[in-house]
Parts: sequence; C-alpha cells; structure tokens
Amino acid sequence: MTREAVKVLKAAARRWDLPLELEFLEWDADRYLETGETLPEGALEDFQDRYAAIFIGAFGDPRIPDNAHARDILLGIRFGLDLFINFRPVKLYDPRLCPLKAKTEEDIDFVVFRENTEGAYVGVGGNFKKGTAEEIAVQEEIHTRSGVERILRAAFDYAAEHGKTRVCMADKSNVMQYAHGLWQRCFAEVAAEYPGIEPRHLYVDVLTMEMIQAPESFEVIVTNNMFGDIVTDLAAALQGGLGLAASANLHPGRVSMFEPVHGSAPPLAGTGQANPMAAVVSAALMLEDLGHREAAQAVEEAVVRCIRKGETTADLGGALTTAEVGDRLAGSVEGNRPS
Ligand code: IPM
Ligand code: MN
Repeated sequence: MTREAVKVLKAAARRWDLPLELEFLEWDADRYLETGETLPEGALEDFQDRYAAIFIGAFGDPRIPDNAHARDILLGIRFGLDLFINFRPVKLYDPRLCPLKAKTEEDIDFVVFRENTEGAYVGVGGNFKKGTAEEIAVQEEIHTRSGVERILRAAFDYAAEHGKTRVCMADKSNVMQYAHGLWQRCFAEVAAEYPGIEPRHLYVDVLTMEMIQAPESFEVIVTNNMFGDIVTDLAAALQGGLGLAASANLHPGRVSMFEPVHGSAPPLAGTGQANPMAAVVSAALMLEDLGHREAAQAVEEAVVRCIRKGETTADLGGALTTAEVGDRLAGSVEGNRPS
C-alpha cells in the first residue's frame, strides 16, 4: 500500500515539478525481530531537523503479538514529536460505498480532531498481584488543561478557516466527571472565543448513534484520544471502510506524520488484494500540508475517478490488484490517461 502511495506521489511530483526527495526507513517487523530495535536513538531529532514530512505505512505483524514495535514507533513519533492533532477527514467519495440508506456525498463530509498525546494513551498504570486471582490492573487517563485547550482551539481554528459553522465536542463527562469535566469547562471557554461558530456537546455514546442517524449534522468533531480512535473507525465505515480513511498527525510548525488509519491486514500480505487508497489519500493530505494544494486535489480526484469507474480492489467491488490501482491512480494524476 505504501509502495502505491509512493508511486502516486512520484507521479504528482513529475506533473507539478515538486522537489520531492524520498528517504526510506525500513522499520518493519523483520528488522525489529532481527535487532529488537524500534525507534532508533536520535530518530526524533533527525525527523525534526532533516525532513519536511513523515509518511508511514501500517504496522502490525502476527509474529509480534503484543505489537511492541507498532506501539513504540507509531506512538513514539506521535508523543515524541508532540503531534497533538490527529486529523481525520471523513468524506464519502461515492454513495455506493456508504452502508447507510440514501446518503450522498453531501451527507458524509466532516472532519475529526482527535487529541493525540494524552488521554488513555499515556501508558500510565500497572498490575498488582499479576497472574493471581486477586490481580488488580490500573490504567490512568491523563488530561491537561493546556493539552485539552490546544486541540479544541485547533478544531475551532480549522472550522473558522474552512467556513465551517459547527464544532461538536464529545466526551463522557456524565461519568468521567473530573477528566472529561475539564473538557467541558475548556470547551465552553474556547467556544466563547469563536462567536461565529456554534458549539455543541454530545456524550460519546450519543455521538456514535447520531453519526449513523444523521451524519449530515456534523462538520467538525473534536474529542479525546481514545474516543477519537473509536469514532474514526466508525466514521471510516461511513465512507466505505478503512481502505479509504486518511489521517495526519500534526503540530503546526513542526514536522508532521501522515498515515492510513487501517492496520497492516496480515492475511492480505503479498496477495495484491489490499486497497492502497487510504495510503494514497493520506499522501494527498501530506501534499496539502506541504503547500501543494493543486497536486493534493488531483490525487484525491484521481481516487474518486477510479472508485466511480470501479477501478478498485475487491473490498470496494472492483477486480484490480493493489499495484494496478496504484498504476491507475498514478496515471490519472500525471494526466496521461483520459479522465
Ligand atoms: C490508529 C490505530 C492506533 C491507535 C494503534 C495502531 C495503536 O488504531 O491510528 O487509529 O490506536 O491510535
Ligand atoms: Mn484506530
């Protein structure tokens, strides 16, 4: 999937004469199993100093059941570079792909701002009397005022800059009164700074229901790390599955990281059946973030065109292989195919 995204990036670079220089870091499961190394010493500084962006493929390998390398590398980059915004656009490219009845492109078009450096993902906790019948497991969520405020502001700023008029914050403050109560208070304060934008609060359980019943009511959703993880998979289903879901891990002014939302689908490895489109639209997000808007748009349009023509892998109803989809997309982007 990553290979196809690179193919499309190279096509865009040729077409728009972009100064694309790629370096490949083979931080895969083989390397981890051989060396035990996950994020190498100095990697984060190197990213920040030498790269304009990081594009990352899906992690996960059945030989590493605890997913140690995925956690260390992926979360290591998110946390280590303080990429506090996990930006996940949700867009229906073709009504055929939506599992809901009678929904169109206009109905499913929103973005999720997932907090990306705190919450349940901080790995604070422990086991007591592990392995015994009296075992106790504790796992803490961490929420800081500055961490909550900055993701809320990012969501409102995005809304303001993109002509959106509604921001919905989801939490579970009816139960998590301390941690999510902080979100409530910050949300009221930050929302007051944006008078043109209508703030709305939903408990996360209600949010999931409404995402199915009335997805058209959402423009910008902002939520904590764990809820963001969950609702973006649900959102991906609305757009046709994880094979189409893109994400960006951002901290304005710093090097950003782009990745498809899906996992590595080990059973599909080497079969040519995996859908590269999520990786490709993540690459489009990267182009956009790097200031190459026209190229980004062309990549996204190529994806839409291929989907409409049925030039897809089997998960979207087509009969092409991973590489064939990459070829069609690259060709379409470079403009040597009639569209
Ligand atoms: C995601 C993934 C990751 C997450 C996993 C692989 C740790 O599910 O990016 O959504 O939970 O954030
Ligand atoms: Mn996830």
